[in-house]
Amino acid sequence: MSEWVKIFSPATVSNVGPGFDVLGFAIDQPGDELTVRKNNTGKFHIVNETEISLPLDPEKNVASVAVKAMLDALNVQQGFDIVFTRKIYPGSGIGSSAASSVGAVFGANELLGQPFLRKDMVRFAMEGERLACGSAHADNTAPAMMGGFTLVQSYNPLTICPIPSPSNLFCTVVHPEIEVKTADARKILKKDITLRAAITQWGNLAGLIAGLMQNDFTLIASSLKDVIVEPVRSILIPKFNDVQKAALDAGALGCSISGSGPSIFALSNQQEIADKIAKLMQEIFLSVNIGSKVFVSQVNPVGVRVMERG
Ligand code: HSE
Repeated sequence: MSEWVKIFSPATVSNVGPGFDVLGFAIDQPGDELTVRKNNTGKFHIVNETEISLPLDPEKNVASVAVKAMLDALNVQQGFDIVFTRKIYPGSGIGSSAASSVGAVFGANELLGQPFLRKDMVRFAMEGERLACGSAHADNTAPAMMGGFTLVQSYNPLTICPIPSPSNLFCTVVHPEIEVKTADARKILKKDITLRAAITQWGNLAGLIAGLMQNDFTLIASSLKDVIVEPVRSILIPKFNDVQKAALDAGALGCSISGSGPSIFALSNQQEIADKIAKLMQEIFLSVNIGSKVFVSQVNPVGVRVMERG
């Protein structure tokens, strides 16, 4: 059995417009890279080899908390070193905490002889989300673990459905250099919604899923709309409306906030459109002196994976 594994754990776009807390997909880049190694201390040892700060206390680190949940389920005591070598920026809206939790759980599972299937490890990674923002949602952890699009049909019991999607679907994600904490972005949401809004939202969510499964780009485009969360959260993102309009005018199927923001994603059915949108998004943020990183990627069908082992 391996003594260590180096893991790639992908960023994810969650909510995807109408699917707050239930829909998400994995992208090819960026991603976390972390090395997980067994140790003989019976404890966790977190090492940070990135320039991005992260908690070194195992009780405050999402990765060790998630692995601990898995060890508890197995009734096993085992120490691990978890070395972060590249990290998605926290507070970016592309599943930073989920990538860390998923990567560490997946790596530890490899070193323990694969006692769990991917779908059964999502619940452990969710404990990292609980630590990160107070809510154990699975719309980032499930696609990071399982790849592709995933739908959380139910949280209790946890039921996750993989959703097939067109092969020529391209995602542009722009990450403006501002931080939005998920916990804060959740606090501002309204606790009650109108029946009219609910009807619009569940029609759109069902339409988006049908569109993805049937390769129906017209249906995807008319369904990728969020009338509940986006109107509240978009005020936290400077130039959101301009970025969304530019993406749609350039031919995006849809454009909305990625997770809790501030990243914004757009889906397109051609690489050229996705690249053009990336340029436009960066220009709009630059016009208000906000730097940004931009990523164009297809849907990542695999999710978390082993890069090397030894
Ligand atoms: N569904 C979550 C939210 C994703 O929008 O708050 C953020 O992690």
